[in-house]
Amino acid sequence: MKTSKIIVTLLIVLLSSVTAISVMAATAQDVVTYTGKGTITFNHKAHGEKLGCAACHDGDKQEKIAIENKKQGHAKCLACHKQEKKKGNSAAPTKCNQCHKK
Ligand code: HEC
Ligand code: HEC
Ligand code: HEC
Repeated sequence: MKTSKIIVTLLIVLLSSVTAISVMAATAQDVVTYTGKGTITFNHKAHGEKLGCAACHDGDKQEKIAIENKKQGHAKCLACHKQEKKKGNSAAPTKCNQCHKK
């Protein structure tokens, strides 16, 4: 093979693996915001690193978790924060305006 052909082949291999990696990384957002009553900022990445994926996602199924209203939001977010508070971790906010920011 000519050197130029080898370089072209290497470039194609490199480019396709870069594309594959970026497609994988695009599955979950680092930070998600909810609006309704003010703005809620949910740091998905930090929660995942601290708690592990299984704290919120069922087994291997890492799909979108719908949070569209107060019932869902408080059942999924506030309930765990209240448990954390009971355990003595005050870093998980339970006061309204700590999640709902203007
Ligand atoms: C504290 C709860 C929580 C933890 C821990 C968590 N997630 Fe999530 N995850 C969510 C919520 C809520 C959503 C929905 C976010 C949205 O509406 O875009 C979500 C969405 C996702 C999605 C789907 C994104 C989409 O738009 O389809 C993937 C994939 C995902 N999480 C993977 C992970 C992985 C991998 C981990 C562990 C590193 C993890 N999650 C940890 C709560 C969590
Ligand atoms: C399984 C438990 C759990 C769930 C579910 C959970 N959290 Fe948390 N959250 C925590 C813990 C623990 C902390 C404190 C992290 C630390 O110790 O630094 C925290 C911290 C926070 C903070 C303050 C730190 C920051 O990132 O600004 C906010 C805001 C927050 N969570 C919002 C949410 C929202 C919104 C949801 C739902 C989409 C949610 N959390 C779901 C456990 C949870
Ligand atoms: C751990 C974070 C967190 C705390 C603390 C919290 N909430 Fe929420 N709340 C949410 C999430 C997430 C939603 C769902 C997303 C949305 O609807 O904005 C929500 C939704 C709501 C809604 C519905 C908003 C709409 O879209 O119409 C109301 C009203 C509300 N909360 C009031 C309160 C009050 C009052 C308190 C204090 C007693 C409180 N929340 C504490 C996270 C929190």
